[in-house]
Amino acid sequence: MSNKAQFGSKIGLIIATVGSAVGLGNVWRFPAEAQTNGGAAFLLLYIGCVFLLGIPVMLAEFSLGRGQRTDSVGVFHKLAPKRPWWIVGALAILASYLILSFYMVVAGWTFEYMWQSITGSLYAPVVGIDGSLATDMLDRQFRTKMQEYIMQDWKPLIPTYIMLAINLGILLMGVQKGIEKMSNILMPMLFVLLLVFCGVSMTFPKAIDGLEFFFRPDFSKITPGVVINALGQAFFSLSLGMGILITYSSYFPKDTKLGKTAVTVSMLDLLVAVMMGVIIFPAVKTFGLDEHGLEGVTLVFVTLPEVFAQMPGTQIWSSLFFLLLMVAALTSTISLAEVSIAFMMDRFRMKRTAACLTVILPLFVLSTLCSLSQGSLSWLKIAGLNIFDFLDTMATNVMLPVGAIFTCLFVGWCVPKGYFKDEITNNGTIRSRIYRPGLFIVKYVAPILIAVVLISSFL
Ligand code: PFF
Repeated sequence: MSNKAQFGSKIGLIIATVGSAVGLGNVWRFPAEAQTNGGAAFLLLYIGCVFLLGIPVMLAEFSLGRGQRTDSVGVFHKLAPKRPWWIVGALAILASYLILSFYMVVAGWTFEYMWQSITGSLYAPVVGIDGSLATDMLDRQFRTKMQEYIMQDWKPLIPTYIMLAINLGILLMGVQKGIEKMSNILMPMLFVLLLVFCGVSMTFPKAIDGLEFFFRPDFSKITPGVVINALGQAFFSLSLGMGILITYSSYFPKDTKLGKTAVTVSMLDLLVAVMMGVIIFPAVKTFGLDEHGLEGVTLVFVTLPEVFAQMPGTQIWSSLFFLLLMVAALTSTISLAEVSIAFMMDRFRMKRTAACLTVILPLFVLSTLCSLSQGSLSWLKIAGLNIFDFLDTMATNVMLPVGAIFTCLFVGWCVPKGYFKDEITNNGTIRSRIYRPGLFIVKYVAPILIAVVLISSFL
């Protein structure tokens, strides 16, 4: 009997995996991408990418993790000993670790904004809470506030370290008592908060205009660039190509239905993205915020505080929203860190405590560098980008798609014949309608399409 950690229940493993997938990608990146790429047109493409590529690639990762029950380097070692496929797993570990170092900084900002919402200091110098201040002025105030905050040397480090400490605490408790238990508490809370915010958004005067923008497709907006963005967003959001799903599925019990799990996780992740659209676009239309553009960081840390400042109950809504964001970020940072922790435990036979410390402690340094790169280290450029943006671009735009391509090629062409089928059908004991189309996509469609998208993003 192996002593490999395992999730305790079917629902627990789904909630934990959804917790990994639902993160800043859904709450922060998706609405911004939808806004700039034509609303409903982007949404439709995004849904297409999730179904056509996201679910099959997720299945490929699940088949490796649940089948081999080890870390993301180990699965390649076990299935192709003495061949260099393990490099794919090593790349995934590196990518997840690099992402973690800057993702933790943004997670820290969410903590700080939640704290400042609770104390009220986020809104203190803002006159015109009642909406009497012009949106332009509000925009400038929150923009300056955000820039001044992230450019400071030491202040943003404190919440980043707090988030690192919370991560360490949960990870030390292990898979069932830490990751699964935390997800079981936090994820339902996140869904309730999302529902509440959807309700609030519907009360805005221009709610219908916002929904129309989000749900009525204008196909003339679809360009090759929009397709690239939709695919990138789907992979980012579903945590693909990063060893996360290989690692989490290595904790799935043997009788887990991989097809059902992949569909459920993807649908819930999609649902959160759609709910965010339903929350953001009515607010954006009502308060005329679309002129300012909703690029990533700005959307959450500038645009939304503008909305809250103009609503009654500013502090309550703002605190709840940043709590929601912090929860989404926390469950994702946990999964990003677990990739390296599983690697340390399985490869180097480390105890969980030693592995957690080995993984988390260097992050105090790396995240510090990422944080300082917004301020006093901003002169330090790699390929013309500061450390934060370089890691983001490298890991998300290059390593993530490369990881996904090679994972698909491995499962499609290298593993023993029948491996994928056996995993998806639990050795023929369950019927699965998605195994055939899934294998076809993993073998041919996904590697080619992702490669095309990757190459064209450089042109
Ligand atoms: N899927 C999560 C999110 O959407 O925020 C976490 C994540 C995984 C982010 C992988 C980025 C990434 F490359």
